[in-house]
Amino acid sequence: MSSTLDLQIAAARLRKLSKLRPSLAMVLGSGFNHVLRQFTVDAEIPYAKLAGFPKTSVAGHDGKLFIGRLGGTPVLVLNGRAHFYEGHALEQVTFPVRVLPEFGIRDLLLTNAAGGVNRRFRPGDFMYLTDHINLMGTNPLRGPAIPGLPRFVDLTRAYDATLSGLLASAARAGKIKLRRGVYLAVSGPSYETPAEIRAFARLGADAVGMSTVPEAIVARQCGLKVAAVSCITNLAAGRSSGGLSHAEVLETAEKVKTLAALLLKNFARLYGQNQ
Ligand code: HPA
Repeated sequence: MSSTLDLQIAAARLRKLSKLRPSLAMVLGSGFNHVLRQFTVDAEIPYAKLAGFPKTSVAGHDGKLFIGRLGGTPVLVLNGRAHFYEGHALEQVTFPVRVLPEFGIRDLLLTNAAGGVNRRFRPGDFMYLTDHINLMGTNPLRGPAIPGLPRFVDLTRAYDATLSGLLASAARAGKIKLRRGVYLAVSGPSYETPAEIRAFARLGADAVGMSTVPEAIVARQCGLKVAAVSCITNLAAGRSSGGLSHAEVLETAEKVKTLAALLLKNFARLYGQNQ
């Protein structure tokens, strides 16, 4: 179990790194890290230098923490994440999220690449999460109770309406089409079968992916407000005539990286104006 001490050490390290004290953090998933070009970096540190942080290994997931300004607003950026399918325990995957409130973060924006389950969705669309379905087969809060934090976390409003509203405004300001929907999380790393996707659609899923949900759950336990946005990089299995590949995911993410960056920059700017 990660101890409170590990969290405090990591947060103290970050406080020494920069004088900025952002209240907003972002986790950049596949396709969203182009926003770093717009980011005024004050400090950066590889996850490898932060005790307790997981190692990231997937292409497009760098594993670096940045503190700086985006659209004029102080922001802490986690560029890249560790995934459950890499073999990490969810406790490791979500360790960086637990460091955030310790550092003073109050609001968290999670980003990811996802497959489109909803038949109206097209590759390159963006979707903000209204809710999620956890089919990872496990829960990041499994394990001993953490003193001072709720054991049974309420997820009735996992995704904050005000932050999600800011995402919608950020999209409007950039003339970016933003859909809304339910994200269903699987463990991966295999993609789904067409039968699974049909089942997920009946369960109420609009998009499917292999991340975000553990982070959102832990963030809620720690009292962070959460919003999340997916880049629909592909139609889910059986929704198109062809097969699925990570190359296709990366290719779509590359095509819409400028829009993804604009969405996040507008979000950060509007967030700053609303503080
Ligand atoms: N399924 C699961 N995860 C994903 C997908 C998908 O189709 N696309 C991007 N991440």
